[in-house]
Amino acid sequence: MPTAASVLSRTPDLALSRAVSSVEACDVVVVGVRGSEDATTVVAPGLDDAVVRALETTLPVVGVRTGVGNTTRVPAPEGLPASSVVAVGLGGGEQGGDGADEAVDAETLRRAAGAAARACRGLGTALLALDAARGADVALGAALGSYRPAKVTGTDDEEGSGDRLLVLGADAAEVERADTVAGAVGLARDLVNTPPNLLFPDSFARRAEELGREAGLEVEVLDERALAEGGYGGVLAVGGGSSRPPRLVRLAHRVSGDRPTVALVGKGVTFDTGGISIKPAAGMEKMTSDMGGAAAVVATVVLAARLGLDVNVVATVPMAENMPSSTAYRPGDVLTMYGGTTVEVQNTDAEGRLILADAITRACEDAPDYLVDTATLTGAQMVALGNRTPGVMGTEEFRDRVAALSQGVGENGWPMPLPEEIRDGLDSDVADLSNITPTRWGGMLAAGLFLAEFVAEGVDWAHVDVAGPAYNDTAATGYLPKGGTGVPVRTMLAVLEDVAARG
Ligand code: BES
Ligand code: MN
Ligand code: ZN
Repeated sequence: MPTAASVLSRTPDLALSRAVSSVEACDVVVVGVRGSEDATTVVAPGLDDAVVRALETTLPVVGVRTGVGNTTRVPAPEGLPASSVVAVGLGGGEQGGDGADEAVDAETLRRAAGAAARACRGLGTALLALDAARGADVALGAALGSYRPAKVTGTDDEEGSGDRLLVLGADAAEVERADTVAGAVGLARDLVNTPPNLLFPDSFARRAEELGREAGLEVEVLDERALAEGGYGGVLAVGGGSSRPPRLVRLAHRVSGDRPTVALVGKGVTFDTGGISIKPAAGMEKMTSDMGGAAAVVATVVLAARLGLDVNVVATVPMAENMPSSTAYRPGDVLTMYGGTTVEVQNTDAEGRLILADAITRACEDAPDYLVDTATLTGAQMVALGNRTPGVMGTEEFRDRVAALSQGVGENGWPMPLPEEIRDGLDSDVADLSNITPTRWGGMLAAGLFLAEFVAEGVDWAHVDVAGPAYNDTAATGYLPKGGTGVPVRTMLAVLEDVAARG
């Protein structure tokens, strides 16, 4: 039987070691490039003019590409204390735009730094000379980009490569924060990237418990007996088809009763076959990522403690494996949820909302000021918004605040409505609610409307659907690796810091 210790984790093999204030001896210097092939501008604060001119001559000759995150490696020109230069695109020119004179925005800088960090893997010590005034963004992008998914292998030593990143213009505190934030994002990625035979409700719960204890959090784990005693009908039904029983984990970072409280809830379906309403075989393996919301919530509450945020954070994380079997719940079942609402199951593949409903009701018992839930909830999120744009629903003011904060950190959550006429489709003839609507139209919004039924009056609420954004099934790009992305950890961090600052 696998144990919690088999949950994958790895330290980034490109460690951010320190901030530097001037160019020093190293293996690689990373510079920015903007413009078009025939009018290439090298952006390299701290480098001698002669070096910049030499690069501006050489790079077009080798066909440098200036699109954001493209990288080109050339031998270092005379006068640079390094053996090579990695030129990373900062945009302008390639897509036809001619933005060479416009300021590079923070997200472009983070993406370029992330791509550069990947390009420097195995090259020794790299010095990032991209924007001396915004070292914090460069450091964060590089730290996020240096993550590499672990492999399950009998031979791999999990040693780091010994590579180092130096960030020109960042101060020590900025580098430390980048490392801490990227560490939490990396934790969420590791959890998502752990295969579903190794990460299942009990092993996930034990890993969350261990992480919570290390971070000094209050920890509570409900096993299947405690869930039955408590009447958690949604979690028990969804987890009932698996030989690996469900869990509900609570992790609290408590500072003071005088400070605001943010409740976090994350969907932890460790594998989603669809249950009796089984999914097609093609692509089903991606459903190992169906606990991406839970992974992000666990990582965020741990991060709140590590950063010492002055806000109370209480995470409620339901974990279940959705399997078909003779003990599985069925289409047609009527469930009594935690808190007493009854739900007619019309489709066992709409399981996330059922475990979230129990968890949201539980979270609201603590009377939080705010509640953010996040989940890989609907394929409809991807139909509506694609793979990189989370859908944000909820009470309007807080929904807009969360979406704006998400855009600020580059996770790009977008506000979406909860239309009344779609709510009518959740009416059931045999129970208080049905778990699906009769049509597929507005499927993301229907799921949001279902959850809204379980949010207590007076709680400011945002629901973040990350079905696409939590998992990158194509190649690494910018600071996003292949596999788990860690979205929306930085959105939730921004919310916690905003609430800590403004209430
Ligand atoms: N976990 C899926 C949603 C999902 C799909 C996440 C693709 C990531 C990628 C969820 O449990 C699900 O199956 N939703 C159904 C709901 C439907 C039955 C109303 C869906 O979206 O098809
Ligand atoms: Mn499903
Ligand atoms: Zn699911």
